[in-house]
Amino acid sequence: MRWKGIKFSRMEKSVSEALQYRRAVRLFDPEQPIDPEEVRQCLQLATLAPNSSNLQLWEFHHVCAPSLKAKIAEYSFGQNAAKTADQFVVVVVRKDLWPQRAKWNIDSIKALQLDAPPHLSDLRLREVIRYYDRLIPFLYFDIWGILGWIKWLFFAIVGLFRPVYREVTACDMRIVAHKSAALAAQSFMLLMAARGYDTCPMEGIDTRRIRKLLRLPRSAEINMVIACGIRTDKGIYGPRLRVPFSEVYRPW
Ligand SMILES: Cc1cc2nc3c(=O)[nH]c(=O)nc-3n(C[C@H](O)[C@H](O)[C@H](O)COP(=O)(O)O)c2cc1C
Repeated sequence: MRWKGIKFSRMEKSVSEALQYRRAVRLFDPEQPIDPEEVRQCLQLATLAPNSSNLQLWEFHHVCAPSLKAKIAEYSFGQNAAKTADQFVVVVVRKDLWPQRAKWNIDSIKALQLDAPPHLSDLRLREVIRYYDRLIPFLYFDIWGILGWIKWLFFAIVGLFRPVYREVTACDMRIVAHKSAALAAQSFMLLMAARGYDTCPMEGIDTRRIRKLLRLPRSAEINMVIACGIRTDKGIYGPRLRVPFSEVYRPW
């Protein structure tokens, strides 16, 4: 099977195997570099992750240049995972790109309309276009966070009488965008694990300095930095610990 020319190798681990193999690796083997092209492919596949309204408000900065790697290690406070990483992926949230991405969705849907499959009626397509034309700007447009609070108050009042969507403040919209970016990040780490590569997600970083280093606009937010490489036999610091499942599983 292929998606956009990327081969799905039969040698890859299953999802369950990849989940079990993936660990936060803190020491990568300097003798075993990884192919940047494979990392790029895993990132491309990770863009298939579910994401809010398909706005794809993310960017993946794939860092291989030695000078930048050294800086990222410094800005990750010299953590071992960062000091020994072969490459980095900086997962960036670009909430500010919502107008472009909404337009991209509209244009893509209009293009689809010309060649629409029978189950997608004209009406359905018009509804989707209206969603990106009206609802997305309503949710994302804000002025210094003030409109968000007005929207919140409006929905709080309407919500007394019927179910409503409540996550409408500027902060809520940041969370929405970060959630989607984190799902893509996890998809990426699982794909890497499926191919026998290792990763360490890091939030112990100086996001402001990394943002400057990568010449990102002030509106960009760093979701996490993912160190990549191949584990050494001392790369995993301990056994995998999780609270008992009964503490987090609530059947109803
Ligand atoms: C958002 C996030 C941020 C993390 N930040 C760091 C970090 O800065 N440094 C680090 O060594 N590990 C970091 N970790 C890894 C966690 O400590 C690790 O996933 C957790 O202890 C569970 O271990 P496991 O991933 O091997 O199962 C982070 C994990 C996540 C999801």
